[in-house]
Amino acid sequence: MVLLKNYLSFSDQVNILKTCRDLGLGPGGFYQPGYREGASLHLKMMCLGKNWDPEKSAYEDIRSMDSVKPPMIPAEFNQLVEKAIHDSRGLIERNHKTRNAASQLPLMSPDICIVNFYSATGKLGLHQDRDETPESLKKGLPVVSFSIGNTAEFLYSDERDPENADKVLLESGDVLIFGGKSRHIFHGVKAILPDTTPHALLEETNFRPGRLNLTFRQY
Ligand code: SIN
Ligand code: MN
Repeated sequence: MVLLKNYLSFSDQVNILKTCRDLGLGPGGFYQPGYREGASLHLKMMCLGKNWDPEKSAYEDIRSMDSVKPPMIPAEFNQLVEKAIHDSRGLIERNHKTRNAASQLPLMSPDICIVNFYSATGKLGLHQDRDETPESLKKGLPVVSFSIGNTAEFLYSDERDPENADKVLLESGDVLIFGGKSRHIFHGVKAILPDTTPHALLEETNFRPGRLNLTFRQY
């Protein structure tokens, strides 16, 4: 698991926010999902590439709720994801004095991006991401997560028990990667910290206070 602090530049963050806002208002855009495994999702969601249906815990090419094909993932988002994986490998090799980071952290080309928007009361229970194909999971192809806006208290653990989970703050511009051995980590969002979005970002985008998170995966 790799956390790249403050990795997305200010202009990347502005571009991602504006692009997601535009896509989110169009066909296949943001909606309030119902339940997953009986737990309600306290966030707004939009999927790019393929749609993830929280009630079926499965992907589909057409969003069954309204028969809309999800928007494509913008090419510049995927370039950032691939660069983040390469940079993480460099970090693993330097920190652990190894040369085989490529086997620990496989490369992936995203064909799914789940975009979540959390308001002040947003949260997400501990879960694993395991609806991708068995091959993708078996290879440990990473999930790459971009955080923009308010800070999240992010929980992660080898077990589902939130009491024993570790906590890390995900701030605007942070990129978190879980692949290889950490691909099946339990994770969730305990709380969103109010008024933690960088002022310049609010001024530049007129963005409604909250937190935007994008998770990229390969089906
Ligand atoms: C997720 O697990 O789908 C999102 C995690 C996050 O918002 O940081
Ligand atoms: Mn997840």
